[in-house]
Amino acid sequence: MRTDVGAHFAGKTAIVTGGGSGIGVALTRALVAAGADVVCADLDEMAASRAATSMVGPGSARAARLDVTDAAAVQALVDSVQPDLLFNNAGITFGGETEDLTLEQWNAIIDVNIRGVVHGVAAAYPLMVTRGSGQIVNTASMGGLMAAGLITSYVMTKHAVVGLSLALRSEAASKGVGVTVVCPAAVDTPILDKGYVGKFHGRDFYLKGQGVRHPLDPAVFAEQVLETVAEDKAMLVTPRPARIAWRLGRFFPGFVQRSSIKFVDKQRRLQDKRAKKELRSAA
Ligand SMILES: NC(=O)c1ccc[n+]([C@@H]2O[C@H](COP(=O)([O-])OP(=O)(O)OC[C@H]3O[C@@H](n4cnc5c(N)ncnc54)[C@H](O)[C@@H]3O)[C@@H](O)[C@H]2O)c1
Repeated sequence: MRTDVGAHFAGKTAIVTGGGSGIGVALTRALVAAGADVVCADLDEMAASRAATSMVGPGSARAARLDVTDAAAVQALVDSVQPDLLFNNAGITFGGETEDLTLEQWNAIIDVNIRGVVHGVAAAYPLMVTRGSGQIVNTASMGGLMAAGLITSYVMTKHAVVGLSLALRSEAASKGVGVTVVCPAAVDTPILDKGYVGKFHGRDFYLKGQGVRHPLDPAVFAEQVLETVAEDKAMLVTPRPARIAWRLGRFFPGFVQRSSIKFVDKQRRLQDKRAKKELRSAA
C-alpha cells in the first residue's frame, strides 16, 4: 500500500457493513492495517466477530450485529460510532431466470442492496455534512454499469447504487463530504456460491456469465478501494478488462446488448447440459 494511503486512514473511524465475509473482511483488514478503527458490522454476528478478532493493527476492529434493512439499527450504530468513513458494502444476489424469482426475493434484494445503502446514507450523510468532512463508499458492481441478463434483479439494484452515489457526490463535494462508488467485476468471495434460483447454480455460471476466468482477489480489490478513497475519486471500475468493456459499452451500446444476449443463450445451454448430466447420473 502506498504511504499516503496509510496516512489518509490512520486514526479514522470506519463502519464496514457486510464486514463478516468476502470483500467486507478484506476492506476491514486493509483499513486496520492502514491504522483505522473499524466497526465490522454484519447480519451474521459470529462471522463479524471472527473477522474482527483476526485483524492485525496498527488500527483496531470490533464486531457489531447489524441488519442494514433496519433503518433504526443503522442510525443507532452511526450515532454511536460517529464514523469518518462509512462503507455501505453488505449485499446479496440472485442468479437465474427472472420468472423463477419470487416477489419475496425481489423485495429482499431491494431491501438489502438499495434500502441498505439508503439507510447508511440517511444516517451518516447529515452527520458528515454538519461536520464538514467524511466519506461514504458504496459497493456497487460492474452489474451497476452494464446490464447482464440472468442477474437482472441484482443489476437493477446496483444501477441504483451507482446513480445514488454519483448524484450524491456532486451535491456533497461542496460540503466537504466524499462519495465513492466501487464497481468490481467478479471477486473471489462466498457470494459466488449464493442466491441461485431455478436450475441455475454454481459459481461457474456466474463467472462464465460475465466472461471471467479468474475472479479478483478480495485483498487486492480492497487495496484498490482504499487508494481510490484516499484520492477521493468518484469511481473504481476494476479489473482492467472490465474497465475496457465498460468504456466500449458506452460507445457501442448495441454491441454490448447483443453480447449480453449471446451470454444468456450460452448460459442456458450450459445449464441445460449440466441438468441433463445430473439427471443421467441420478437415474
Ligand atoms: N464477489 C463479487 O463477485 C462481487 C462483485 C461485485 C460486487 N460485489 C458486491 O460486494 C459486496 C460484498 O459482497 P461479497 O462478495 O463480499 O459477498 P459475501 O456474501 O461474501 O458477503 C456479504 C456479507 O453481507 C452480509 N449481509 C447480507 N445481508 C445483510 C444485511 N441485511 N445486513 C448486514 N449484512 C448483511 C452477509 O452476512 C455477508 O457477510 C456486495 O454488495 C456485493 O454485491 C461482489
